[in-house]
Amino acid sequence: MAIVGSIYIDILIFATTFLVVAYHYFTWNFDFWKKRNIPYVEPHLFFGNFQEVALQQTTIGHFLADLYNKMKTDYFGVWVFGTPHLIVRSPEVIKNILVKDFNYFSDRTITSDTDADPIASKTLFFSKNPFWKTLRSKLSPIFTSGKIKTMIPLMNDAAADLKEYLQKRTSQTVDMKEVCAKFTTDVVTSCAFGLQGQCFQHEESPFRDVGRKMFNYNMINAFRATSYFFAPGLVKFLKFTFFDPSIYTFCTKTFLETIKMREKSGIKRNDLIDMIIEMKKLDSIQGTKLDDDVIVGQPMQFFAAGFETTSSTISFTLYEMCLNQELQLKLRREINKALDEYNGFTYEALKHMELLDKCIKETLRKYPVLPFLDRRCVKDYKMPNSDLFIEKGTPIYIPMFGLHYDPVYFPNPDKYDPERFSSENTNSRPQYAYIPFGEGPHNCIGERFGLIGSKLGIAHILSNFYVEANEETPVPIIYDSKSFVLQSTVGLPMKVVPYNRRMSAAA
Ligand code: HEM
Repeated sequence: MAIVGSIYIDILIFATTFLVVAYHYFTWNFDFWKKRNIPYVEPHLFFGNFQEVALQQTTIGHFLADLYNKMKTDYFGVWVFGTPHLIVRSPEVIKNILVKDFNYFSDRTITSDTDADPIASKTLFFSKNPFWKTLRSKLSPIFTSGKIKTMIPLMNDAAADLKEYLQKRTSQTVDMKEVCAKFTTDVVTSCAFGLQGQCFQHEESPFRDVGRKMFNYNMINAFRATSYFFAPGLVKFLKFTFFDPSIYTFCTKTFLETIKMREKSGIKRNDLIDMIIEMKKLDSIQGTKLDDDVIVGQPMQFFAAGFETTSSTISFTLYEMCLNQELQLKLRREINKALDEYNGFTYEALKHMELLDKCIKETLRKYPVLPFLDRRCVKDYKMPNSDLFIEKGTPIYIPMFGLHYDPVYFPNPDKYDPERFSSENTNSRPQYAYIPFGEGPHNCIGERFGLIGSKLGIAHILSNFYVEANEETPVPIIYDSKSFVLQSTVGLPMKVVPYNRRMSAAA
């Protein structure tokens, strides 16, 4: 009897000690922002302010936008589990962090662990300084205007397949997101690697298959990605990769073989593969030997970052055209006029499609593919003319989605209105309130390529088809809460109806 009693007492003491230690572990830092006189959102036990994302009930972009709307100060503190994070709202402070004082914020927060993910950790998006700086300077010339001009015929080839594919599907509902992903996968594989994606010819094309795996956010993939942004300790401890391991197997085999074949043939295409071969000849990037992981990482990142962002931009634009037929008509007229004046789908023609340019900007406001930016403070920083002091190591998040829907900068923000991007309206708001490609030295390296690819895709589709909403088109869009990029839960189903430009002109 006495022995049983003592076991109960031991269990009770152990449980109480455990709860006290756990409580202390998760709350000891909850006075962090108060001590520094920085406004904050009241945290909760265990999750801090991160409960909805951790439980996969909302996207990171919406979570940050909700905080942006709740707090009206230039910056404020939150906790992700027990770790303090700074959220920045003011375009002026954003400018300092991204551009003016970049040297204090030159890394992203995302984990870069060479043991957990030796390939992703050596790409631009993940790597830290000084490796990132050298890599970025080597890859910067990849998308000059001159190079993009030479890529347009390749993009037009992919668009011819796209047109043929849609022509066979005019009596049915098509998921425009999937169709555009096929198109942009073909564009990236052809322009950057000199390979044929063949996504329209084969539903199960290997590149499209890998692309789907990269952005298909089941619970496990969502856990991987969220941990890389917000739980670096877990990544270091459990050593899991950012993407599903099968993706690395495919990329390693495909890209190493492609490089070997290119080296053997001596053929030059002035693309990413040629650049990597040049880098191999020089053999190292500041302190890191140019091993197979670096070599595979570069095409893998251009593939991942290139096809999803561009297909999302094209398909969300077409979605908005379904909902606004008058705007679609106006846009089609402009596209056709430019095609007539500048000899078809040329660089010049795309440059003269002003309304299309404004539509894409408005799409990227309403649907910023990557709806937040992140930076880590790498040395103690005191902001000039302000009380703000940021300690080395502090993770910083910029709620792009919040800024893009702030009625102060974008009145009636749910309305799709390309005229927000007339030069007059653009000049009337702070530059850093609109940041779909990020800003400063870490900004999107593929911006020009993404914009031209998006314009060309939309111009091809609208000059050959009407797009229309039907009962399957989601209004409003419900976003996938497990995805860290912006994705509709049901894709973007719509109807396409043939349009004959020549016949319409004759009529
Ligand atoms: C409409 C299309 C696109 C959008 C909206 C977009 C958006 C972004 C954003 C928001 C960032 C983060 C920038 C920052 O932290 O300041 C980024 C980075 C990046 N993007 Fe894009 N992107 C697009 C197309 C592309 C394309 C086509 C490629 C390549 C083929 C690409 C490659 C990259 C890379 C490598 C980075 C990391 C750059 C670095 O940290 O140095 N993106 N992109």
